[in-house]
Amino acid sequence: MQVFSEIVDIRQARWKEPSTRWGLVPTMGFLHEGHLNLVRRARNENDRVGVSIFVNPIQFNDTKDLDHYPRDLPRDLALLEKEGVDLVWTPTPEQVYPENFQTYITVEKISQPLEGKARPGHFRGVTTVVAKLFNIFQPDRAYFGQKDAQQVAVIKQMIEDLNFNLEIIICPTVRESDGLAMSSRNARLSPQGRVDATWLYRALSNARTAFEQGIRDAQKLKGIILKTLQEKNIRVDYISITNPVTLQELEIIQQEALVSLAAFVDEVRLIDNMIIG
Ligand code: PAF
Repeated sequence: MQVFSEIVDIRQARWKEPSTRWGLVPTMGFLHEGHLNLVRRARNENDRVGVSIFVNPIQFNDTKDLDHYPRDLPRDLALLEKEGVDLVWTPTPEQVYPENFQTYITVEKISQPLEGKARPGHFRGVTTVVAKLFNIFQPDRAYFGQKDAQQVAVIKQMIEDLNFNLEIIICPTVRESDGLAMSSRNARLSPQGRVDATWLYRALSNARTAFEQGIRDAQKLKGIILKTLQEKNIRVDYISITNPVTLQELEIIQQEALVSLAAFVDEVRLIDNMIIG
């Protein structure tokens, strides 16, 4: 496994065998089973696999959140080596955003609601760094998790609008055995918080059950989610039921809908979602 921080080294390694198909897994490190699942899928579907590990400062609107973001590069590299990854990029912020950096990418509409509203500038940071990753690695396929459902929608829109020549592969959310969606942020939960956090999945599952029993009114389903979270005094940031592609809020669910939520457990902001219908 080759590990580089310089962009020129990544480009050279990528183009050494021009006819090979490359899969890219962009990450912010502190890897868990969810990331490794993306790596395995990339391994199966491509000749070579590249991974980026970069805690992207411009997608954090809260510096405390950035400072507390967990990091463990030696452990991450050991995990990736075991998975048979070919190339890892571990740049510094100065390498990604040199002094005169001044170009940003904004996906106008679907970046605005939900996470975009709660975290102003977040998606501008995500799309800018992901576009850079695509330009540097030039992957044939790039792998993202469904857990960040809005991120997936925003990146797909960017790919279409800017004609990036690659395929985006979305992999299902990987959950702990008790349903908690895997996330690097879970490491910041106290033992009690870790138990309470499973109620996010429980709340989504309750909404899905109600939907399966015939409830189509989005307001009612949101009420079921809220009530479940209130049982554990979990502070809710938002509960949303939207079209999965346009992210427009729905009143009545006729086809597929993205049910998503953000909530605070131990002051750690967690997100989760489920597709119903
Ligand atoms: O999902 C993430 O970990 C990040 O948002 C990404 C896609 C690596 C961009 O920094």
